[in-house]
Amino acid sequence: MPSVVSQPVVAKLTRAAIFLAVTIDPGRENEVAVRGLCADLSSLLRAVGFRDLEARLSCVMGLGSEAWDRLFGTPRPKDLHPFREIHGVHHAVSTPGDILFHIRSTRMDLCFELATQIMSRLGGAVTTVDEVHGFKYFDDRDLLGFVDGTENPVDQDAIDSVIIGDEDAAFAGGSYVITQKYLHDLNRWNIVPVAEQENIIGRHKLSDIEQDDAAKAPYAHNVLTTIMENGEQLEIVRDNMPFGEIGKGEFGTYFIGYARSPHRIEKMLENMFIGSPPGNYDRLLDFSRAATGTLFFVPSATFLDNVEPDAAPSSDDSQETTVTEPADNPPARALASDGSLGIGSLKEEAGHE
Ligand code: HEM
Repeated sequence: MPSVVSQPVVAKLTRAAIFLAVTIDPGRENEVAVRGLCADLSSLLRAVGFRDLEARLSCVMGLGSEAWDRLFGTPRPKDLHPFREIHGVHHAVSTPGDILFHIRSTRMDLCFELATQIMSRLGGAVTTVDEVHGFKYFDDRDLLGFVDGTENPVDQDAIDSVIIGDEDAAFAGGSYVITQKYLHDLNRWNIVPVAEQENIIGRHKLSDIEQDDAAKAPYAHNVLTTIMENGEQLEIVRDNMPFGEIGKGEFGTYFIGYARSPHRIEKMLENMFIGSPPGNYDRLLDFSRAATGTLFFVPSATFLDNVEPDAAPSSDDSQETTVTEPADNPPARALASDGSLGIGSLKEEAGHE
């Protein structure tokens, strides 16, 4: 069986990122354009990334449920479905998005250049539905003032948390990603006493040290987002970014969470929005509103490299056999420098820059 190379899902956290969500316009010619980009993405990334290799430019491309059916038909990733909205104490909305581009680098200019090249390659085939330019704020803090990302799994733990294995063999090396754009009411948040803010997050604000379990409020964010199943913690990899527009009074956190199954992220969201038990919800949501919500499947880089622009979506299992590694341009070489992973040699480092 040929080795499968993942997209750089567990790339190291960076100081800049662009999150671009687009929908594919109606028409077969637009689907052909998107399929063409799938095959070309690694080459665009190489060209822009080579301008400063130390800036660790990377791009993850995710595909929504309907887009998958339009572009590829069957087989389809077994857990791919549209983002399910949640009506709890607070509301998690589901919003449009056929493709996600998660572009990361230590330099915003490289992110900007790659996003521009991608959109120009797509021509008029897509409509942008959301574009966020994220930045790191002081010591990896969100705009609420707390360090965000500390408990992310790293190294092999990160890979085990996010990369699909035998549970969906046809899509091994893939991943799932959920994004939500949160807008904060900073005026209200900033008058909450720091001790209560710390109870809401479950960590100390200045030192970033976790509160003792016995001292944590039942509604603490880190209590509600800790998911245990059969004695094992089901982790996800987050790379949240602050963003905002001062003139508009917009201050936000772009939440992005990767996992090998969307189920564990959905469970975290239920705990946050409905509560666990119901009513014991995440008080962060009294100050932060989810303005978007989307779920995407992240195929392996090998899959993307082998997409044929003109092929019609298949309605049988024949596509499984098309995922092979090109002999003279192995994706492992193309993408490994920015965090992609060859299954079988999953040794890339994940964590802070
Ligand atoms: C307004 C949006 C959000 C903000 C500002 C935020 C902020 C934070 C902060 C400050 C921490 C503690 C430090 C850390 O371990 O990273 C944290 C932890 C965490 N958050 Fe969030 N978060 C947000 C949304 C979400 C969502 C939507 C999810 C999942 C669906 C999530 C999942 C987690 C998880 C799994 C942890 C680690 C818990 C642990 O193991 O201690 N967060 N978040």
